[in-house]
Amino acid sequence: MFRFQLTTTLCYGPDSLSALADLDGRRVLVITDGFMATTPLMGQVRDALSRASVEVFDKVIPNPDVAAVAAGLRAFLEFQPEALVALGGGSPIDTAKAVRKLALEQGHRTDAGFYVIPTTSGTGSEVTSFAVVTDPHSHAKLPLSSSDMLPDVAILDPAAVATAPPRLIADSGMDAISHAIEAYVALGHNDFSDALAEKALRIADTYLLRSFRSTTDLKAREHQHTGATMAGIAFQNSGLGIVHGLSHSIGGSFPVAHGRLNGILLPHVIEYNADVLGIRPSHVSEVGRRYVSLARALGLSASSDRNLVFGLVGWLERVRRELEMPGTITDAGVDPNEFRAAIPALAATARKDFCTSGNPVPATEGDLAGILHAIV
Ligand SMILES: NC(=O)c1ccc[n+]([C@@H]2O[C@H](COP(=O)([O-])OP(=O)(O)OC[C@H]3O[C@@H](n4cnc5c(N)ncnc54)[C@H](O)[C@@H]3O)[C@@H](O)[C@H]2O)c1
Ligand SMILES: [Fe+2]
Repeated sequence: MFRFQLTTTLCYGPDSLSALADLDGRRVLVITDGFMATTPLMGQVRDALSRASVEVFDKVIPNPDVAAVAAGLRAFLEFQPEALVALGGGSPIDTAKAVRKLALEQGHRTDAGFYVIPTTSGTGSEVTSFAVVTDPHSHAKLPLSSSDMLPDVAILDPAAVATAPPRLIADSGMDAISHAIEAYVALGHNDFSDALAEKALRIADTYLLRSFRSTTDLKAREHQHTGATMAGIAFQNSGLGIVHGLSHSIGGSFPVAHGRLNGILLPHVIEYNADVLGIRPSHVSEVGRRYVSLARALGLSASSDRNLVFGLVGWLERVRRELEMPGTITDAGVDPNEFRAAIPALAATARKDFCTSGNPVPATEGDLAGILHAIV
């Protein structure tokens, strides 16, 4: 039996920030980061909450660690809010989710609602039960999972992504693409997650480059925003795979943006999972056929199924190039010798990552190390 979870209400499109009016008269804690707290968007959120009592915690750091979550929890316990609002990218949203979970464990409920306003189009965190928190001791990015962290309402207002610079659009867009592709082949994939993953990928194909090239193309940003959430719903219900297992492991030790890492890893992981690099030229595995379906959903064609898998890899590499993203870890600014020396530890951490268990091919530590060597 499969279970497809639809918990979060989606308010989307222009002016969806007005959904915050439902929190009138409540004590509301807004969790955000130092930059977002200074933007006009924060002013719009305050206006929408004008009849609520609002406290802002703006100390979220990118890739939040245990200490950042603890600071958020202290702010929560001091203010005792009835509702929680997260404003920002995956970092503020994940921090708020972890704070909500820890507060709940101490008996503090936020029954008036947990609202999230993503300002990046990528992580899908607004609809998932996952939060990624870095352990400062092991440097590992730990994906926490609990249904208590599922937001009640996600507000997908294009105004929230209007200010995102092209670099952020590219990194988060590649994250969304990786969610769609991994969800489509993951062990838990099903007809519902397949439909959302396919659509999310087709939306990225049409709107991601437009979003990247123009800060005024709000239509493109609006569609890319909803597409990223679709990919989030897909992977929430199907699982992910070794792109994310490896990316969490690398990201804990080397400061490269999550989506950028995923873009470097994806082509290698597709070729590994689809088993198309072997000596059997006509052979395409069952997993390989999943990638073939995805390539067809993108309208790609080729002389054989095996070439369609390479066609999908080629599509990814073209999108990555047009988004001006690096193709290797060295191009991403990491010292190659330092990276090579870290590979055994990175492979061991990736092997244990929660996302790795969803991969359609059971990757060994040696396999993971092989992929890590290939991306240097
Ligand atoms: N929970 C999940 O399922 C999940 C999935 C993937 C990634 N993540 C996590 O999410 C985090 C990354 O999140 P992210 O990529 O969304 O970015 P982020 O929240 O880390 O923000 C990155 C930077 O962009 C800025 N920013 C955000 N929105 C902006 C906007 N509209 N305009 C201008 N600047 C803006 C922020 O202030 C920050 O400086 C990582 O910790 C990653 O591990 C979580
Ligand atoms: Fe991701």
